[in-house]
Amino acid sequence: MLAEKAVNQGVAPVTYGQGDRPPRGDYASARADYTCDQNWSAYTPEEHALYRRLYERQAAQMRGLACDEFISAVQHLGTPERIPRFDELSQTLYKRTGWEVVAVPGLIPEEAFFALLAARRFPVTGWLRKPEEFDYIVEPDVFHDLFGHVPLLFDPVFADYMQAYGAGGLKASRLDACELLARLYWYTVEFGLIRTPQGVRAYGAGILSSAGELRYSVQSPEPSRVGFDLQRIMRTRYKIDSYQATYFVIDSFQQLFDATAPDFTPIYRAVRELPEIEAGAVLPGESLIAAE
Ligand code: PHE
Ligand code: CO
Repeated sequence: MLAEKAVNQGVAPVTYGQGDRPPRGDYASARADYTCDQNWSAYTPEEHALYRRLYERQAAQMRGLACDEFISAVQHLGTPERIPRFDELSQTLYKRTGWEVVAVPGLIPEEAFFALLAARRFPVTGWLRKPEEFDYIVEPDVFHDLFGHVPLLFDPVFADYMQAYGAGGLKASRLDACELLARLYWYTVEFGLIRTPQGVRAYGAGILSSAGELRYSVQSPEPSRVGFDLQRIMRTRYKIDSYQATYFVIDSFQQLFDATAPDFTPIYRAVRELPEIEAGAVLPGESLIAAE
């Protein structure tokens, strides 16, 4: 029944239903649209405590590294003492931007994912990682999905971008362009940086939910930081098993929204004619943005 790729949720592409690793979530109880009940009362006290440790580790290093929109919206997640109830969080979020969060068993097929985003419903994995996965997890869990993604859904422009991405995904499926579009998600929603008057900051969920990459992405001299360029992004491969070698930097969420508003049909066609760019490669004449 299952889902193929994780590329849309900021983790390594994983194939399920093969080999020795069964899908981790309970897909049997999911609805046709892949949503399911959060089953909040089934979380154990140990899981709530682990969520709190994850939350506090990230919150402690946000200042100066995460963008202000993220920092000011984190409070909407409620107390770090327990894993939020999706229904309560949805009520608050809906009032702000018309988005809801819905539970899913884990990674879901691309089209189901796009359809939920297009309907302003953000899929959040129900389960939490195990304590031994505190530092690193391959698949997105409730901490990555909630802490990383949900705060920016409180920002009206970013919220509209996410819906447009979902609609664009449904269209890309028809144009066989999901791989190109997935790079846009990867380099913005998951690993995006933004330029602010105070300096470069992170807004991507994969960065904001990572213990080490938050500092690395903003401050390390190692990776390339390139100004946002749609075609450049669609041509650029990405790393799934290490920190990114290239980050793309937007000037504002409005810039991101406006730059992605045109019809992608001719853009996909143009990009297919151009060579792919390796992760980390810098093109001749390309100027890089300095680390903080
Ligand atoms: N404008 C894109 C298209 O026509 C849709 C889109 C918007 C995709 C925003 C991604 C992000 O395909
Ligand atoms: Co993600």
